Amino acid sequence: MSRTVYVNGVFLPEHDAKISIFDRGFIFADGIYEVSAVMAGKLLDNDAHLKRLERSLGEIGMPMPMPAEEIVKIQKELIARNDIVEGTVYLQVTRGAADRDFPFPPADTMQTLVMFTQKRDFTNSPAARAGIRMATVRDIRWERRDIKSVALLAQVLAKQAAAEKGCQEAIMHTADGVVTEGGSSTIFIVTANGELVTRPLSNEVLPGITRQSLKLLCDERGVPFIERAFTVDEALAAPEVFVTSAGSFVTAVVEIDGKRIGGGQPGPVARRLREIYLDEAVKAGV
Ligand code: PDD
Repeated sequence: MSRTVYVNGVFLPEHDAKISIFDRGFIFADGIYEVSAVMAGKLLDNDAHLKRLERSLGEIGMPMPMPAEEIVKIQKELIARNDIVEGTVYLQVTRGAADRDFPFPPADTMQTLVMFTQKRDFTNSPAARAGIRMATVRDIRWERRDIKSVALLAQVLAKQAAAEKGCQEAIMHTADGVVTEGGSSTIFIVTANGELVTRPLSNEVLPGITRQSLKLLCDERGVPFIERAFTVDEALAAPEVFVTSAGSFVTAVVEIDGKRIGGGQPGPVARRLREIYLDEAVKAGV
């Protein structure tokens, strides 16, 4: 069955949706995206995703294509038209279509706004039940990873390399073995003392929205949430490792480069945090 998608003011069947070959998103990856999860038909953490959208756009000199409330109306319309109970809503804003030239196009160039849904079965996913395997990959990205840019080639290659090793996610790291992020997720280790450790926010990582929500939940419950860099070796020796993102929520990592983490099963901390995150995010969902 064909999805209904949204392109520049119009809802239409996916096969009828068209974007110019001159779109700067296509030509230069000159655009920003966001992914919001849907559970029980509700958008999770969506306000925070739209705030990050505005921030990312600002960092590359673009305004919001319309007020956040208008974007939410379209997201909800897509959820309804496509019967999404569990899934994601993807949105992408580009600097629009113009003759190919690197500097920004004339100020009256219309931005492109595209949105579509993807159905997923989060509740019964193998990753939720059994955790995921990760493979280490050098992080070869640019220096503004805090911007949610559609230029994702480094992550495409990292996740492909992981997939070729039978893994569901990549652990990206620097030349000296310091972990930056998952291919499309924030990564955490749990220490022997039950502390959560993840990198502090900087230009080197995306400020994950799921990370932000989890931090709030941990602060409320007195769970130590420590922001510092850690190495691949530390992750390998940790009792638990997990990743967070819109759609993976909190997902346990059971293997890195073929070596088991903890007992090779999702650990109690990751399992509990997943439950807490989902309960609270669905309750607060819109
Ligand atoms: N990716 N780090 C990177 C590099 C990411 O691409 C993502 C999300 C995250 C987690 O951010 P959040 O919790 O806001 O989803 C961290 C999305 C889901 C994607 O590209 O599909």
